[in-house]
Amino acid sequence: MIYPIVAYGDAVLRTKATDIPQDYPELGKLIEDMFETMYHAHGVGLAAPQIGKSIRLFVIDSKPFMEEGEEEKGVKKAFINPTILEESGEEWGFDEGCLSIPGVREEVWRQERIKIKYYDLDGKEYIEEYDDLTARVIQHEYDHIEGILFTDHLSALKKRLIKGKLTKISKGDVDADYRMKFAGVTGRR
Ligand code: NI
Repeated sequence: MIYPIVAYGDAVLRTKATDIPQDYPELGKLIEDMFETMYHAHGVGLAAPQIGKSIRLFVIDSKPFMEEGEEEKGVKKAFINPTILEESGEEWGFDEGCLSIPGVREEVWRQERIKIKYYDLDGKEYIEEYDDLTARVIQHEYDHIEGILFTDHLSALKKRLIKGKLTKISKGDVDADYRMKFAGVTGRR
């Protein structure tokens, strides 16, 4: 099932998400649906708040970011109740976008390596390290479950320059090739 993607302006994107309890119903199906929704929108990551669920869950597939012949370095994975334990290395800039903020791409600076703890569907705990673009995707999605958007990392000047675009998106005045959900907009789409 493909979910509509919550657009910039919805309070769910600004809410710190809560841990998922062991008995959360049909979590496996939800994860499958999130991958389907992400691929449908040609994204490399999707966090649960982006489909209106304020829980600590995101999925990523960084393969499209890898160079030709190195696709196997990409990571496809669901992260349940993750915690970033450590970030290290030099900060580097990369143009980020977000399925909740279509048409906006800006350079965001983040550290190059992360150590993250998370759980799989069986409740097994993992502690893993990632770097480069896979770390970047995880950092972006992890921000989502903390109620943070990539635009929050921009300078005051950049923020001012994109403010009009963001307001338009929140009002539903946007072209995306996937279905979106707008806060406070009824009777459209
Ligand atoms: Ni995003």
